[in-house]
Amino acid sequence: MPRFPKLLASLVAAIPVVMAGCGGSGTETAPTTGADQATAADKDKKPGELTTPDRRIDTSKAVDVVKGEVEGGESKAPTPLEYLVLDPDEKAIHDEPYEIAVPAGLPPVASVIPASNPMTKGKVELGKQLYFEPRVSKDGTVSCASCHDPAKGWTDNHKTSTGIKGQVGGRNAPTVLNTVYGRTMFWDGRAPSLEAQAQGPIQNKIEMGDQSYKEIIERLRGISGYKEQFLKVFGTDVTLDGMAKAIAAFERTALSGNSAFDKYNTGDPEKPETFKALTEAQKRGMVLFGLRLNDEDPFKVDAALLKKANCTACHAGANFTDEQFHNIGIGFDEKAGKLADLGRWEISPIGAKAQAEKGAFKTPTIRDITRTGPYMHDGSEKTLAEIVEYYNKGGNKNPNLDADMKPLNLTDQEKADLVEFMKALTGEVIAVALPTLPAGPDGKSPNPQEALGPPPKTAQEIGEIHRVVLGR
Ligand code: HEC
Ligand code: HEC
Repeated sequence: MPRFPKLLASLVAAIPVVMAGCGGSGTETAPTTGADQATAADKDKKPGELTTPDRRIDTSKAVDVVKGEVEGGESKAPTPLEYLVLDPDEKAIHDEPYEIAVPAGLPPVASVIPASNPMTKGKVELGKQLYFEPRVSKDGTVSCASCHDPAKGWTDNHKTSTGIKGQVGGRNAPTVLNTVYGRTMFWDGRAPSLEAQAQGPIQNKIEMGDQSYKEIIERLRGISGYKEQFLKVFGTDVTLDGMAKAIAAFERTALSGNSAFDKYNTGDPEKPETFKALTEAQKRGMVLFGLRLNDEDPFKVDAALLKKANCTACHAGANFTDEQFHNIGIGFDEKAGKLADLGRWEISPIGAKAQAEKGAFKTPTIRDITRTGPYMHDGSEKTLAEIVEYYNKGGNKNPNLDADMKPLNLTDQEKADLVEFMKALTGEVIAVALPTLPAGPDGKSPNPQEALGPPPKTAQEIGEIHRVVLGR
């Protein structure tokens, strides 16, 4: 049987952790599609001003989502402590610190690692196994890597991961790359951390029923290789809390940096190769994007072009995202006058919703953008050239369009230059070798490769990867 239909079928029916973790919306707020819920957050605004409130989340506390739940948090459903968190036997922990190697161009990570989930070697290795582990899915065919495959820019290269129960609209699988810097997770920011993201089942009791996470944990407790590793890493049996922490720790090692742009930007200006890291088209694109060239670069671009495309209004900082939510008009149906997916608005507390949150989605990183297509929360844009056209027309006009979305009047040359610049953000490839998974009670260990989609195969696909990555 071809693998693909099998994968689809299992996506629809069989992956509790994964479905809830990625597809499901939080259940804490009632979905609203009505036009005008009370908008307390809008009250203090001047007319015409549209800003999404800064709902800052303290990610250092985020790992305690599960504990809060157990201690009588939002859900009244029974949540047996032992499946979630166990008191660790400190003496059983035998793990060593893990140092993340941060590639050129990215900020240090120490300050963004939650104190409650320090990086350790055994934990990262365990997290990697769980990330590639198809046995977290009920029928054993889907892993996190099915939709976030390191070989595909940590995405699935599909338009949307449709058919996932509980998903608000069809959403595109975002890359896991550089999520270590992310202040929130998901397109609408509904999860406060990677740990909370991986604990999806807890936040999705209504869709999941209460048995599912227990089933997963029971299944993993039947695999002695996991029992041993949890004991070593957390000093406990297999728990959901530990599973989320280990997966998050592994995800934090997925970094994209040391791109041509980084070589230009962080290289030694005394060395001639530094300024050669970018082509002239890329340098023109960089300025249009909103970034200054190095003063010492003999190649000059008219400074008046610096804000012309104004991409840095949102794609700012080392990871090319402001971590904020903006309506840029994607998914707006002009005829019906409606947004297909309300995004941030759906998950904001009733009574505190701001108009600007309607159709607002998190600004995604554009690092490794050549590998992560198709693009946007709904996968509606196929190429970088289409995206530039979209911005050039000022996006789809709609009542909540971000004030930074305006027609750009770019020339054809300028459009091409912007695309070239974005290609310069493709990072060095960090090959992830597939882990060997521990044998189950039947003595067999699944091949993690089987849960992955087919690799790129056409000469064109391979050619494109070579061209971008190797510059030829
Ligand atoms: C069936 C496909 C699928 C599977 C399997 C899957 N995901 Fe996802 N993932 C998605 C989609 C789609 C989204 C975006 C959903 C949204 O924003 O509402 C997402 C979002 C995420 C995000 C948020 C990234 C960001 O920038 O906001 C992370 C992290 C993530 N997934 C990790 C995981 C992990 C860990 C697993 C395994 C436990 C997993 N995913 C399994 C499809 C999947
Ligand atoms: C007002 C803020 C804002 C501005 C200005 C902006 N972007 Fe975006 N960008 C976003 C948001 C938000 C998304 C995701 C939108 C969605 O999916 O609904 C996005 C998505 C993208 C994507 C797709 C990323 C992915 O992984 O799907 C690319 C590429 C991109 N922008 C490039 C640009 C370029 C080039 C410019 C300048 C011409 C620009 N952006 C200007 C906010 C902005």
